[in-house]
Amino acid sequence: MLTVGAVAILATADPATKATASRRLAEMWCAGALEIGRALPPRRPARPGRPLLRPPKEMPKRRAFGSVAGRIALLHALAHIELNAIDLGWDIIARFSGESVPRAFFDDWVGVASEEARHFELLAQRLADFGARYGDLPAHDGLWESAAATTDDLLDRLAVVPLVLEARGLDVTPEMAARLERVDDPQSAAVLRRIYEDEIGHVAVGVRWFDRLCRARGLVPGEAFRERVGRCFKGGLKPPFNAEARTAAGFPARYYEPLATRPARNEE
Ligand SMILES: [Fe+2]
Ligand SMILES: [Fe+2]
Repeated sequence: MLTVGAVAILATADPATKATASRRLAEMWCAGALEIGRALPPRRPARPGRPLLRPPKEMPKRRAFGSVAGRIALLHALAHIELNAIDLGWDIIARFSGESVPRAFFDDWVGVASEEARHFELLAQRLADFGARYGDLPAHDGLWESAAATTDDLLDRLAVVPLVLEARGLDVTPEMAARLERVDDPQSAAVLRRIYEDEIGHVAVGVRWFDRLCRARGLVPGEAFRERVGRCFKGGLKPPFNAEARTAAGFPARYYEPLATRPARNEE
């Protein structure tokens, strides 16, 4: 069953095994070999002994990309995000499998989880190119904490995970990729651009299901988005927004612009 497989992946601590199992489960789902079933996800996914998890405030400041150490720190931080993203993909499938959603909902999130596994593998490979590996540096637990605030309601989860956190990735990734190119690291830049293209699709999946669920519940999506972000996500949304990528994902600016923490630079 899909949910049983999802929970088994959440309970897998080793990152490489988690990624491989994710792609295998996705293949089985796409082949039509699985029922959805029911299985309860753990409160927290299993994690390896390393990296050590620290509060976000205690994380060392990122170093310049010009140094190899700075690039390793960036790739490591991104690998950690992608590992969390794998678990978030399977968690949404298992946790909300009892909702009255069509099979296409599971198709979409299985696709997301499988792509997150690929993202983790690409970053782990790039770390290996630099003689480093995931677990070498500390990481922070902010991403899972944000998600843990939304275990009760699928609309809360969709508002915070794809539409705040993954959309934030769209805002910051092009600049990171450009900076990597400027320090003559086109391979790392290419990994980030590949991830960026996929992430537009993940935000699109988030918007599609958020809107559909709102309609089913008789809610106005933009209003529902702001209400849920206000209740479930600490802090506002940081501009500038990548309106082009967000629009490509079908995410209307009128949903999120009123939540900007301060005016975007060109509006000041
Ligand atoms: Fe990703
Ligand atoms: Fe994603």
